[in-house]
Amino acid sequence: PLVYEWSGISDLEIQLQKIFGIQKVIIVDGNLDSEPSVKALMGAEAVEELENYAKAGDIVAVTGGSTVAAVANAIKPSSKLKDMLFIAARGGMGVDVQMQANTIASNFATNSGNDYKTLYLPEYLSEAAYNAMKEEPIVVEMIELYEKTSIVIHGIGAANEMADRRKSSSNERLDLEKQGAVGEAFGYYFDEQGKAVQRIRTVGLQLEQVKKCPTILAVAGGAKKAKAILSYFKNATKQTIFITDMAAAQQMFKII
Ligand code: BG6
Repeated sequence: PLVYEWSGISDLEIQLQKIFGIQKVIIVDGNLDSEPSVKALMGAEAVEELENYAKAGDIVAVTGGSTVAAVANAIKPSSKLKDMLFIAARGGMGVDVQMQANTIASNFATNSGNDYKTLYLPEYLSEAAYNAMKEEPIVVEMIELYEKTSIVIHGIGAANEMADRRKSSSNERLDLEKQGAVGEAFGYYFDEQGKAVQRIRTVGLQLEQVKKCPTILAVAGGAKKAKAILSYFKNATKQTIFITDMAAAQQMFKII
């Protein structure tokens, strides 16, 4: 473990920001594994950051998950959030509707008085179905929006938990295990070195597109996600602003 002395949250934020090599880290007090209200606090912090960076004409891609859902719940109409378009980072269905990126994109837009665009596709597509889908005009339009996305708001999950949520088959789980998948974000699974080892085949934002976005808000907390978060940030995109909680931060310091 890292020998480390700290004098408060802001010190811890700076340490993590340096270790990950990212733009900013915000730590909210508490542990979202046991205190559900922590998610709302993280959501409010993420909205504040969004307000700092958003500009008219921005296309904002959002992922699914309960943490990004909490960001959508915290957003309100604001003069800083005008003429924006919220889109689902992936078209996949298959999980609880409230946790789906499509639902969350529409919540962001409705709560802030902006527009949204959804794309409903199965969570998994066969190669043939994927290739056929890519030619469909509504899909072509969405892929063009992904190219123009300037802000991404995403969660980070533990690989095994995401496989459970996606009802992955035992073969798929075995594959993930063999490849050493630890973390997950926007449909990609990452190993301990931060390498993307697998991707869910559906229409969605590509890792390369995320990497070239000027603003990325990653929102994830809870001690249980510490390993997953570390794996994701091993190969961090430097413009990322990471919003987390104290429990995740402290657990990460125990590991590194
Ligand atoms: C998924 C997102 O839906 O939710 C992922 O596609 C994210 O990017 C995951 O890893 C996290 O979910 P939660 O509920 O733990 O915030």
